[in-house]
Amino acid sequence: MKNMHDMWQGALFNALCEHASFEEIGQWIEAPKDRAHGDLAFPCFPLAKRQRRAPSAIAEDLAATLTHDEFARVEAVGGYVNVFFKKDSLSRQVLQSIVVQKSAYGSFVTGKSARVPIDFSSPNIAKPFSMGHLRSTVIGNALALLAEKNGFLPERINYIGDWGTQFGKLIVAYQRWGSEAEVRQAPIQTLYKLYVRFHEEAEKEPELDDEGRAWFVRLEQGDEEAVALWTWFRQESIVAFQHLYDRLGITFDRIQGEAYYNDRMKAVMTHLQEAGLLEESDGALVVRLDDEGLPPCLFQKKDGSSLYATRDLAAVYHRNEELSPARLLYVVGQEQSLHFKQIQAVLTRLGVEKQKQPEHVAFGLLLSDGKKMSTRRGRVIFWRMF
Ligand code: ARG
Repeated sequence: MKNMHDMWQGALFNALCEHASFEEIGQWIEAPKDRAHGDLAFPCFPLAKRQRRAPSAIAEDLAATLTHDEFARVEAVGGYVNVFFKKDSLSRQVLQSIVVQKSAYGSFVTGKSARVPIDFSSPNIAKPFSMGHLRSTVIGNALALLAEKNGFLPERINYIGDWGTQFGKLIVAYQRWGSEAEVRQAPIQTLYKLYVRFHEEAEKEPELDDEGRAWFVRLEQGDEEAVALWTWFRQESIVAFQHLYDRLGITFDRIQGEAYYNDRMKAVMTHLQEAGLLEESDGALVVRLDDEGLPPCLFQKKDGSSLYATRDLAAVYHRNEELSPARLLYVVGQEQSLHFKQIQAVLTRLGVEKQKQPEHVAFGLLLSDGKKMSTRRGRVIFWRMF
């Protein structure tokens, strides 16, 4: 459609060039909202002063003399020249150029091969792939394709959620109620069931939460048993997600999730500490963002473990260092906009320029029966694969 529009403009430029400069015509031409007023309209008001004549008189004259092979009809209405194009012949031209240019049609070099990492899909392992992740996958891939067409070099990053306290909980649940055979047979469903069960049981037996947290600390410290279970859950999940990506025809340049940043957590904390941003709060470490009107951003729990924000901060630095990107896109549901605002605010405090900060490409929430879906509560709709 854009090319069609350019062709129309080109035709109008040729016809108007005696009356105004190229730049002027470009600035003045309008695309009427109501197509009954033409495909494009040229307002004569700016010419009125120059020609010392009423806009409507200029419009009348112009309309009488404007001719072009591609114009179907030209009308003067209240100081405007409204132009209607011959859509048939223009459509034919557009189609012809598509045939000639094939897949190069619609390509631009605007991006000048600048890199644009796009963080999208990014599901959480050991859980069903959610509707939100599906949206992120499809929107993110569409953005990557558009970026490519416009001469950018997108880097498709799947930042899987493979780290966090929930894996400590999952290990506890597996040890209590899980079976290896069941996980092997239907990994995601089984792990997800264990996760839901953990939360049900933890309501009756709150010590389970402490146990889960402790296992995550062990995982972060490289405990062999914890790492072995986690590696297995992760691998099974990646294989399951791959079926879906294959079906959608989507590939990633890298699957680099939260766990990838595990060995950078200390460096992030030191960096924040040296910048004088960290404050203690109930044993935890936070960056207060009162001046920005935002709640504090939590970077370390009181048991010493890292958080989503800690890992995202590490990922921002890593992506900037490795890719020197023109923009840093994150296709993530709108419910995470506070998280991204906090990350941006912290980066600004750290002196990181805007261009090197995450740009949150947000999308809305799909509800089920008017309610938020929740994997933790088991309120989800499953996508049938076959
Ligand atoms: N795994 C996260 C979730 O499902 C999304 C991650 C988005 N990307 C990021 N860099 N935070 O909620």
